[in-house]
Amino acid sequence: MLPDVQGLKGLDIGCGEGHNTRLLARRGASVTAVDISEVFVQHARQLEETEPLGIHYLAASAVELPFPASTFDFATGFMSFMDIPETEGVLAEACRVLKPGGFLQFSITHPCYDTPHRRNLRDEKGVTYAIEVGDYFRNLDGDIVQWLFSAAPAKVREGLPLFKVPRFTRTLGQWLNLVIDSGLRLERIEEPRPSDQVVSRRPELQDAQVVAYFLHVRARKPGEKTASQ
Ligand SMILES: C[S@@+](CC[C@H](N)C(=O)[O-])C[C@H]1O[C@@H](n2cnc3c(N)ncnc32)[C@H](O)[C@@H]1O
Repeated sequence: MLPDVQGLKGLDIGCGEGHNTRLLARRGASVTAVDISEVFVQHARQLEETEPLGIHYLAASAVELPFPASTFDFATGFMSFMDIPETEGVLAEACRVLKPGGFLQFSITHPCYDTPHRRNLRDEKGVTYAIEVGDYFRNLDGDIVQWLFSAAPAKVREGLPLFKVPRFTRTLGQWLNLVIDSGLRLERIEEPRPSDQVVSRRPELQDAQVVAYFLHVRARKPGEKTASQ
């Protein structure tokens, strides 16, 4: 879903240790990346030293980006916007730093299925056939959930403490209205799911074929691209 970013100037918002930022840079973009966590930024910088891709990492908040307006051709947020407490400010701030004609693409856990109440319903063989969701309209504002990557090998998970992540849930309508109210124009929506081939190799991903786990959104700042873009 990501358009060609070769030669474009991009900002990755909430970059973590930079896994997806590096993928962007490998596609030929000139990338700056921010995360509020100094620790993540340090790890990302270390990786940049061992494998330089020209990425410039900064510790900064998504809602107070240290860049002038109209700086970037595109911005990304990979699974980060739903972890940011000031949800209402994120889209507007991303829009501010985009050049006219630039795009924002972000992924979040799917608002309709990553609800405050959620339970997998399984048949006698343990196959998920439905997901029970509830409390959709209750906006969580920092409630802590604990989890580990289910896809990680059991040996790796053994003895590891659980991640503690604060949750900030918003409805689908709230998310899309934030995009619209920020002045961006919705351009593309995707709800990715694993293929049958993937699930036959990785059966633990089967439940992601029952409902959408992720929402991908691309939106564009109105205006003409300049010659330099
Ligand atoms: C699930 S991680 C995703 C990291 C990365 N984008 C990736 O794809 O691996 C969410 C990230 O959002 C960051 N984050 C949370 N609040 C933020 C804020 N206000 N500004 C910038 N980053 C923030 C967290 O520190 C964390 O690294």
